[in-house]
Amino acid sequence: MKKREVDYAFFREICSEVCSGEKYLSMKNYIAHSDVSVYEHSVKVAEKCYSYAVRRGIKCDMRSLCRGALLHDYFLYDWHKNKKFTFHGFKHAKIALLNAEKDYVLNEKEKNMIKSHMFPLTLFSFPRCKEAWILTFFDKKCALAEIFRKRGKKTQGNEFTR
Ligand SMILES: [Fe+2]
Ligand SMILES: [Fe+2]
Repeated sequence: MKKREVDYAFFREICSEVCSGEKYLSMKNYIAHSDVSVYEHSVKVAEKCYSYAVRRGIKCDMRSLCRGALLHDYFLYDWHKNKKFTFHGFKHAKIALLNAEKDYVLNEKEKNMIKSHMFPLTLFSFPRCKEAWILTFFDKKCALAEIFRKRGKKTQGNEFTR
């Protein structure tokens, strides 16, 4: 079977649309896991979701897939530093959606992706589209890779990848 080419120009275009705002860039200051910023994590997750969907020939809305993934952790605070952010794992998806709705025009798929990305922790927010299932899988995969990778060892690729 012929391997499908990933169109990184398309990915970069969406990234520059979504990731250039001041608030989005502020995610570079917040840590997701280990020494990986929420910005770096979000772009990585989006790239993994997109390249997987393209390579596997999954018929889905690629634009929504990238946008929803880029915005899935748009909660905009440092959850390691402040006690009021306990239960972050349970609450941040809802906060990310509220923030994203203020700053972006989101479609239903993108909203569902953001709100349900912590499934099954988010019992009442169930992934309702392929895009959301892809995100919930790659978010966990990337998070685990970040948690267990050696400190200081940077992941390959990014700044919208090669
Ligand atoms: Fe998250
Ligand atoms: Fe995440």
